[in-house]
Amino acid sequence: MKNNIFQRVYNKIHSTILNQMDEASDKKICGQSLVKYVKSVYRDDANGVGMTGSQSTHYIILKRIFSHVTLTEQDNFIDIGCGKGRVLAYLIKAHAPCSLNGIEINEIAYNVAQEWTKKYDQVNVISGDAFKLDYNPYTVLFMGRPFLPVTFKQFIEAFEAGLNHPITLIYWVDQQSGHLLKDRPGWKMEFRETLTYIKGLRVARTPQGYSIWTYDPARR
Ligand SMILES: C[S@@+](CC[C@H](N)C(=O)[O-])C[C@H]1O[C@@H](n2cnc3c(N)ncnc32)[C@H](O)[C@@H]1O
Repeated sequence: MKNNIFQRVYNKIHSTILNQMDEASDKKICGQSLVKYVKSVYRDDANGVGMTGSQSTHYIILKRIFSHVTLTEQDNFIDIGCGKGRVLAYLIKAHAPCSLNGIEINEIAYNVAQEWTKKYDQVNVISGDAFKLDYNPYTVLFMGRPFLPVTFKQFIEAFEAGLNHPITLIYWVDQQSGHLLKDRPGWKMEFRETLTYIKGLRVARTPQGYSIWTYDPARR
């Protein structure tokens, strides 16, 4: 009991510090905070179907993830399920030299992203369903666990069917469904790491993984 209370207070302190750090960066880049959670439009956890709510990934985590990815001027980046746009904000902060895009189905989250990104010519946010987008214009894709596992598998099948060139996929919070890519023809895991602490801050209550994949239709 004592341990639980201690653990909750400990987690709360760490998440408050992280959110304050995030908010300071959000305000500089976006002119507003992107911290507030926006609940999912539709999810059915019992059947693993649907979409997650819009929770922004901490900057400290994004810094760690993107230390393993180099974006060049020739790249065209997209965040699939961009929420309020935190990943795009991080990449602006990190001076990513390429075009930065996001697609978001949740109108409340999309409106926030659309509002603050207007002033950045480099950024384009699309309102709509990620299942309906043509991914051929993009080279580097990010997913911050937008889908529950069954929906994730359906998305990957549709995605593979439409793609005609190699891409890189960064998949954050991959422990629930990342394994679905493991034995799929054409996919190769380039890097994986599990995070709990970064610089002494507890960034995840339970260890959370991310993996970086390449997919080449020619390898199928
Ligand atoms: C956990 S949030 C991640 C937000 C952002 N990528 C980040 O990491 O900060 C996942 C987002 O994916 C969106 N999403 C889920 N299914 C989608 C779909 N079919 N099309 C577009 N967006 C979707 C959700 O609405 C939610 O905003």
